[in-house]
Amino acid sequence: MDITQQFVLLLLGALTVKESFGYMRACYYTNWSQFLPSSSRFLPGRIPPQLCTHLIFAYADIRATNITPTEFNDIEMYNRINRLKRDRPNLQVILAVGGWAAGGERFNRLVSSEASMLQFARNLVVFLRRHNLDGVNIDWQYPTSRPRGSGPGDRLRYTRLLQCTGWQCLDSKQSWALGFNSAETPFLYQGVLDFAFLMAYDLHGQWEDPSSGALHHAPLDPEVRTFVEGWIESGFPARKLALAVSGFGRSFTLTSEPEGNGLGQEVTGGGAPGPFSRDQGLLDYAEVCRNLEEGNWTRVWLQNEGVPIAFGNTSRGWQWVGYDDPQSLELKVI
Ligand SMILES: *[C@@H]1O[C@H](CO)[C@@H](O)[C@H](O)[C@H]1NC(C)=O
Ligand SMILES: *[C@@H]1O[C@H](CO)[C@@H](O)[C@H](O)[C@H]1NC(C)=O
Ligand SMILES: *[C@@H]1O[C@H](CO)[C@@H](O)[C@H](O)[C@H]1NC(C)=O
Repeated sequence: MDITQQFVLLLLGALTVKESFGYMRACYYTNWSQFLPSSSRFLPGRIPPQLCTHLIFAYADIRATNITPTEFNDIEMYNRINRLKRDRPNLQVILAVGGWAAGGERFNRLVSSEASMLQFARNLVVFLRRHNLDGVNIDWQYPTSRPRGSGPGDRLRYTRLLQCTGWQCLDSKQSWALGFNSAETPFLYQGVLDFAFLMAYDLHGQWEDPSSGALHHAPLDPEVRTFVEGWIESGFPARKLALAVSGFGRSFTLTSEPEGNGLGQEVTGGGAPGPFSRDQGLLDYAEVCRNLEEGNWTRVWLQNEGVPIAFGNTSRGWQWVGYDDPQSLELKVI
């Protein structure tokens, strides 16, 4: 499987429920994967068409009440992705709107009045239809998050926004898939959504106080399991839940050689950037594999957490990365 940072797989959160109609396998395709250097460059033609039931294009932006492309060639990318339907006619192409980089302010403004939400819903429908897109993923990171400029009142306003973009504000019932990304427990809108992606990664990383030490960013136990069970216990239909898993690891530089698995061991900060992903504190899956194959790195399975880590000695000191591989992904989704 070709999993990279740029190609995040979302697998149905079937920790407890298996549905007879089959799994939703949503794949994120990001606008920046086309600009990566050499072998990491990833164009829509490289997406194995049978792998995904849903392809999510990330990200479109919001300007006032309009949806706007982010890159000069986004429209061309929508078309390229739509062409994959030749081999997979049931593929759903979903536009993700917002994302981390978009920030929260444009969402705050959008939900500030019923009129702007209604206008946004209308504009959205036109945009989706014009570009033959099958649905939208409203990705506000995150309503009610104080550090991101949102307050408790945004919970209800976000619900209303999802209702509007669903169809409830519009004259006629339109049909398209509607979903959102969440890093916390459900709000009230389950009746409106066709799917919810649970962002069950980036739970730890270099942004935390270094005194926390080296931690895995997506441990099945206890964090991811508790998170998924919380959603299901709250009454959210399991068949609409997709567990978002990442194709990258979060890395640290340790102050000394790891003892055992190195978990919780002292760090100086984020790990050295990978040669392709070029981001401090992050290594994509292909980079971790390369280190294991060629860099004399050691993989250790964390039995209690249900995920692997890898470490190795480099010219930048001892590097430690927590990531997902086929073994942990299988545990997470089955
Ligand atoms: C991709 O979209 C994001 C919005 O999430 C934007 O910030 C970014 O500039 C776009 N392009 C690249 C190359 O990252
Ligand atoms: C490879 O790593 C192991 C464990 O960290 C170490 O014992 C060994 O000396 C290393 N070998 C080389 C050639 O660096
Ligand atoms: C780790 O690598 C550094 C240089 O890159 C070297 O000086 C040191 O001896 C290595 N430590 C071990 C335990 O291999």
